[in-house]
Parts: sequence; C-alpha cells; structure tokens
Amino acid sequence: METIVKGMEGVAQAAEIIKKGGLVAFPTETVYGLGGNALDPEASRKIYAAKGRPSDNPLIVHVSCIDEVKPLVSAFPEDAKLLMENFWPGPLTIIMPKADIVPYETTGGLETVAIRCPENKVTLEFIREAGLPIAGPSANTSGKPSPTEAEHVRHDLDGKIDMILDDGPVGIGVESTIVDLTGEVPTLLRPGAITVEDLSEVLGKKVEIDPAIIAGGVREGIHPKAPGMKYRHYAPNAKMTLVTTALLKEKDYVVTEDERTAADRQVASCIDKLVREDEAAGLRVGIICCSETRDLYNSGAERKADIKVIGHRSEPLSMTHELFRVLREFDEDKIERIYAESYSDRGVGFALMNRMRKAAGMTEILAED
Ligand code: TXA
Ligand code: MG
Repeated sequence: METIVKGMEGVAQAAEIIKKGGLVAFPTETVYGLGGNALDPEASRKIYAAKGRPSDNPLIVHVSCIDEVKPLVSAFPEDAKLLMENFWPGPLTIIMPKADIVPYETTGGLETVAIRCPENKVTLEFIREAGLPIAGPSANTSGKPSPTEAEHVRHDLDGKIDMILDDGPVGIGVESTIVDLTGEVPTLLRPGAITVEDLSEVLGKKVEIDPAIIAGGVREGIHPKAPGMKYRHYAPNAKMTLVTTALLKEKDYVVTEDERTAADRQVASCIDKLVREDEAAGLRVGIICCSETRDLYNSGAERKADIKVIGHRSEPLSMTHELFRVLREFDEDKIERIYAESYSDRGVGFALMNRMRKAAGMTEILAED
C-alpha cells in the first residue's frame, strides 16, 4: 500500500522518492500521471512494469518551465518556443529531437522526446523540488481509461508504486494535445483540449493531422507516429458501440433544429431496440447520452439499463471529463454492453470523439429511419 498525501504537504516526500529512483503518481490538469526520473532508464522500466505497458510506447517528459527543456533536446525549433509561450503551462505536449541524456528507455527507442509543462501548482512544485524532468504516462493500467482522480490511480496501481500525490479530481479530464515538430510540417498526433485550430493560429500555418487519428490507429497500412495510438485504449470491459445517423454524418453534425430533433429520436430508438435485445439475452447494459437527449431514454418500458449523462453536448470539454469516470463506473457495475451517442468532431469535440471511438474499438453504427 503506497502513501497517499493531499496537496502541497506531499511535495517534499514525493521529490525524495523520485531522486531515489522510485515512482510517484501526480496530478495534472488533464489526467493523473505516473512519474519517475526521466533521465534514469531503471525508473522508466519500472513505470512500464507498473502499468503493464509495452516498452515501445514512449513516455511524456514533464518539466516545470521552458528553460528546463533545453538540456533535453538536440534542436529547439522556433515553432516550439511559440507554442510553449502561448500554451504552457497547459495541456500541450511537443515532440522534439532528443538530446543524448534522455535514455531510449524513456522514449521507447525513438530519437525524439515528448515534453510538456503541466498546469497544476502541486506538480509544478514537485518537479522543481525533485530538480529532475519527470517521465509520466497516464497513471492507469495500460489499455484502461485514464485516471481523473487519485482513487482511480489507487484502484489500478495499488501496491505497484511508492506514493500518490492527491490534488482532487482533475480539471480537464482528457490527455494533452500532442504535436510533432520533428517533421517538415507540424503534425497533430493526439487531439486534446488545445485544438488543431488553436495551434494553427499561433503558428500562422497549417497543422497536419496524423491519418492514424482519424482511422483510429488500428486500420491496416496506417502507421501512427505516436506509438501509443496503435493500441486499443480507454477500453471498458464492456463491448461498446457508438450510434449516429447517416444525415448527421453527411452534414458533419451541422443540421437544422428539426433535423436534430429527428436524429436524436432515431438514435434513441435504435439504442432502445438494441438494449431490449441485450437485456432479453440477460446482459447488463449501459447507455451514454447528454443532458439534451436524456429524456428520450426514459420512456415507458421497464428498463434496467444504466443511463449516464456525460454533460451538455454544446460543451464537449466537460464531457471528456465525465467520459473516463463513467467508463470506470460501468466496469465497476459489471456492465457488459455500452451504447453511446456520437457527437460532432468540431473543435474540442475531436478530442472527445477520438477517445469515444477508441473506447468503442471504432465500432459505430447508423440508426435507420
Ligand atoms: O495529459 C497527458 O499528456 C498525460 C499527463 C499525465 O501528462 N500523459 C499521458 O501520457 O497521456 P501517455 O503516456 O498516456 O500518453 C503519451 C502518448 C502516447 O500515445 C505516446 O505514444 C506518445 O504520447 N508519445 C510519447 N513520446 C512520443 C514521441 N517521441 N513520438 C511520438 N509519440 C510520442
Ligand atoms: Mg495513457
């Protein structure tokens, strides 16, 4: 059983553990991370072991300020400076060519390193005290939803790490945006709270989207640049299916109010039908919807399905926050099938839908008229 300490009080002890080569889970604004000394190959090996993560999947290195980046990289592109000045501390990870002191154990064998400065006071103080860059993947068992509270970390990693720095539930709830600056054009490798439009605006140029994000990283012939994107991820124990309509897809979710109402009904009645079939077969079912459609899932029938609202669909960022928590709750309640509404990919919606598609193993069906 590791120590769990709330807030600033745990910082000194956490920093000591890191200096001695141990592991500390730490809060960030996105999700909890599992930290070790990024310059120590042995600490990185321990991180992979605790998470049960394949060791070709590189770790993100966390720093407390821009100056700490210099020793970690062999080149410091002007674009990187611009992005750091605009978005750090914050939910943006930048891929740059690595310096020799960063071991291959930390970068999963790559010549590049992912660096980010998180926006959390406790963690920034912890990194400063440790005086070292902190390698930190999300603090979940590999393949499971990322932890948005200390309790999730304890659930997954109890007994496998030395300490949890607890700063309450995280603010954002979806992992940082990752942008690769080592190629000819800046490329988005993972969507997050900072959108591709935000990045383009600051850089004054187009930012490409890695095709693996759209394909989900599981289609043959597409090789994701972020190795982590190729694994099944955020996966609940239940088989999960997304439901949308042909019209919503065709119009990219930009529809009239009447069309929207009709589509909501179609999706709800399709889900209703599937739930009945599953329940008749004796399965435990969960539904993921939004406040706007919640009432459509109430009507009549004696249903047992567990209905979870993840927020307002007009605010996708708040929905990402709830998504991982709800997926964990479904696991706890031994839910075997999950049906979820699909939402728009616009803006931060891209990050939400990317995680929902991965949780569903890319399974999305169209409700019929
Ligand atoms: O919000 C976050 O980024 C959280 C918090 C803890 O900071 N961390 C996080 O780490 O999500 P993790 O390990 O779960 O995801 C890191 C992703 C993986 O998909 C990995 O493949 C990719 O970053 N990555 C890391 N280094 C890379 C590199 N050099 N080149 C390409 N992708 C890289
Ligand atoms: Mg992760």
